[in-house]
Amino acid sequence: MRRPPRHPKPSPRWASLGAALLVLSACGGGGSAESPAPVPVPTPAPAPSPAPAPTPAPSPAPAPAPAPSPAPAPSPAPAPNPAPAPGTSSFRGNVVLGSPTDSGIKANVYAPDQSGTVWLAYGTRSGALDTQTAAQPLQAGQPLEIALTGLSANTRHYYRLYFRPTDGTAGAPGDEASFMTARPAGSSFTFALQGDSHPERLKSQFDPDLYTRTLTTAAADQPDFYVLMGDDFSVDTLDPTTIDSAKVRERYTLQRPYLGLIGRQAPLFLVNGNHEQAAGYLLDGTANNVAVWAQNARNSLYAQPAPDGFYGGNPTPVPHIGLLRNYFSWTWGDALFVVIDPYWHSPVAVDNVFGGSDKRSNMWDVSHGDAQYQWLQRTLEGSRARYKFVFAHHVMGTGRGGIELAKQWEWGGESANGQFDFPLKRPTWTEPIHRLMARTGVTIFFQGHDHIWVRQKLDGVTYQTVSEPADPNYTLWNADAYASGEKFPNSGYTRVRVAPDGVQVDYVRSYLQRDESATRVHGSTAFSYRLP
Ligand SMILES: [Fe+2]
Ligand SMILES: [Fe+2]
Repeated sequence: MRRPPRHPKPSPRWASLGAALLVLSACGGGGSAESPAPVPVPTPAPAPSPAPAPTPAPSPAPAPAPAPSPAPAPSPAPAPNPAPAPGTSSFRGNVVLGSPTDSGIKANVYAPDQSGTVWLAYGTRSGALDTQTAAQPLQAGQPLEIALTGLSANTRHYYRLYFRPTDGTAGAPGDEASFMTARPAGSSFTFALQGDSHPERLKSQFDPDLYTRTLTTAAADQPDFYVLMGDDFSVDTLDPTTIDSAKVRERYTLQRPYLGLIGRQAPLFLVNGNHEQAAGYLLDGTANNVAVWAQNARNSLYAQPAPDGFYGGNPTPVPHIGLLRNYFSWTWGDALFVVIDPYWHSPVAVDNVFGGSDKRSNMWDVSHGDAQYQWLQRTLEGSRARYKFVFAHHVMGTGRGGIELAKQWEWGGESANGQFDFPLKRPTWTEPIHRLMARTGVTIFFQGHDHIWVRQKLDGVTYQTVSEPADPNYTLWNADAYASGEKFPNSGYTRVRVAPDGVQVDYVRSYLQRDESATRVHGSTAFSYRLP
């Protein structure tokens, strides 16, 4: 496996010590210093059409408009355009879905360079989209969130985006896509996830064509949703002397052509990564800091859940942002899903420091925060779901390895010298996070960050580290940090099939066409296991 020479993998000793005093420059495989590369320009991503092409007739608008959208809708219900063939839309933007519930979903519409009027037609039968939203103005470069409400639970819904440009040219409907509303207990379904995509590491760990292949293949599985495990919108390679809100936002918009490939049909859930720098230590009381810019870009372009009757989550607004939407939970079928965030609530930097200072932190200073911990405890204890899945960018948000780190600090209670200092260091917490997960029957803890695919198990909890989706060098990063487990190199995505009689986890490999061979088959399953 090729390994860039300037970034040797951490030694097993580093991993086992856990480094009570960390030099906080660690990040993914390769590190940010490797990547002075400019922001890559992704190849335009054609919308895939996993569903059969329906007849396009948009039909005169019945417009019962059951979907009151958050923004005012000044335009009357539109007169649908003449019906060109599907797929001929002049629209250069796309839709990314988010926050699905048993009765609704949010469609985030974004176009980099077109303005006009947009609306969605939708229904429960392919080709018969008998309901439509009110038309709303779309400004170039400004995301628009359209809420679909009043949907039926446990039902596949179909939709099309309609776009009428302001320049007077003919509009056209986009391709039909579909999504699922929440499934009841006893259902079988698939979800999928990817590790660190790092599009800013062009050529070293990111290939646009490989990312497209991974996402297109994942979309063909028709997962109910897709989870990104962090380091997908890395801002810390931006020059700290010139960084601003617009440059941070570009890291989020450059992913839209890619993530639209799967996000148009599978709602996306974002897990915060260390390179996102959406982290409390950067707040300065103003609206002008990296944390505010990052979280606002995140929430405006990717509809993440806020606590309501369907989702649990962080109820505390932050000035200049509002609700962070950074940790949340939901139940889908027989499974509880819990996303936690090591970065926002720590008073000190958890991993690399924005701007590259040599700041160091004692790992007991790093914290998920009392409120998040207590919420996690309530959420895990209060769920009777057959399966429980917890997602975070990494154990404690930093370091290398999986179960190797699970005994330390807030996660395991031990200091670097092996002494169990948890009662002293976290006197109001009931137990360390790993013990909490084990006691409450967590099925799998998913993490990214290490740029490798590894399956491990500790005290009944599977620790599943997931791969990068688009590393063209197919590297086995950080393998020495894992003393046990089945290990596989990049690239690919992880597919999870949940059914009443068990969970199946597959590592699905991705290869560029030029790299395929008898033993390197794109879309093949490298490793599978079943639980329980
Ligand atoms: Fe990473
Ligand atoms: Fe990371």
